[in-house]
Amino acid sequence: MLKNKDLLGLKDCSAEEIYEILDTATEMKQLLLSEKKQSDLLAGKSLVTLFYENSTRTRSSFELAAKYLGASEVNISVATSSVQKGETLIDTGETLDAMKIDFIVIRHPMAGAPKLLAQHVKASVLNGGDGMHEHPTQALLDFYTMREKLGRLKGLKVAILGDIKHSRVAMSNLIGLRKLGAEVYMYAPATMIPKEIDKLGAHIAKSREEAVEGADAVMGLRIQLERQHGGLFPSLSEYSRYYGVNDAVLKYAKKDAIILHPGPVNRGVELTPQLIDGDKSFILEQVTNGVAVRMALLKLLAEYREKNL
Ligand code: CP
Repeated sequence: MLKNKDLLGLKDCSAEEIYEILDTATEMKQLLLSEKKQSDLLAGKSLVTLFYENSTRTRSSFELAAKYLGASEVNISVATSSVQKGETLIDTGETLDAMKIDFIVIRHPMAGAPKLLAQHVKASVLNGGDGMHEHPTQALLDFYTMREKLGRLKGLKVAILGDIKHSRVAMSNLIGLRKLGAEVYMYAPATMIPKEIDKLGAHIAKSREEAVEGADAVMGLRIQLERQHGGLFPSLSEYSRYYGVNDAVLKYAKKDAIILHPGPVNRGVELTPQLIDGDKSFILEQVTNGVAVRMALLKLLAEYREKNL
């Protein structure tokens, strides 16, 4: 049983809750892979996706997850909503509450926006990514994929390379993996490593090779050009040459290491196209698992609501 109405970040989740989500996702994956892909587990429930930033995977997988479990779902297109007339986030949330919505999935450029919303609505709020803070459902689907492919999470060495400073995915992965007993090694240009991230338990490597040496999983992170104000690295081609993951770098990892990336990928920048499309890459499997994990979260939060609200 989850202990909160909302999923705002992995900072608030215990290892037991994370495992409960992953175990429930295993059941949900069976349903997702079945011919029918349909259940009435969430019949009568409703979900709204409220995205103030672009998304392909997170938004559509939440919408599909709700549909597959029999809930109704609506997307609010922020670009054409009353947000453009100056409506505040809290007013938007209270309006959705008045429509008796059960779940609001929000993506927002401001860290903390999902928490603010959650404090003002009865609906369960799920963080679909807030600024440079957390992206908990992405990390959960990453954990699901690692456990499915590697058989465990405790004791794994996970190498994360890329734009760590601007990455909410890196933050949620680090917080969650440390709770689950995995070691996290990070490597990026110094301009892309946040100050004091080592205090959260990250090992900051001095080279790509050191980060990847003996790793079970190698995760590339997107270079987030939209969050940068220039000057963090000389050019994309130099980034790829000196900081990207290629065959030569991957040789340092374990023989059966897996490659992950939250997407969208800048092909040839964070990872070579050969690695993205190769047999060690589980990037598309991550997308499939994202639907199962989000189905699991909706099921578990619905159970919480039934018992506590
Ligand atoms: N990984 C991720 O959050 O992808 P989207 O931006 O497409 O949702």
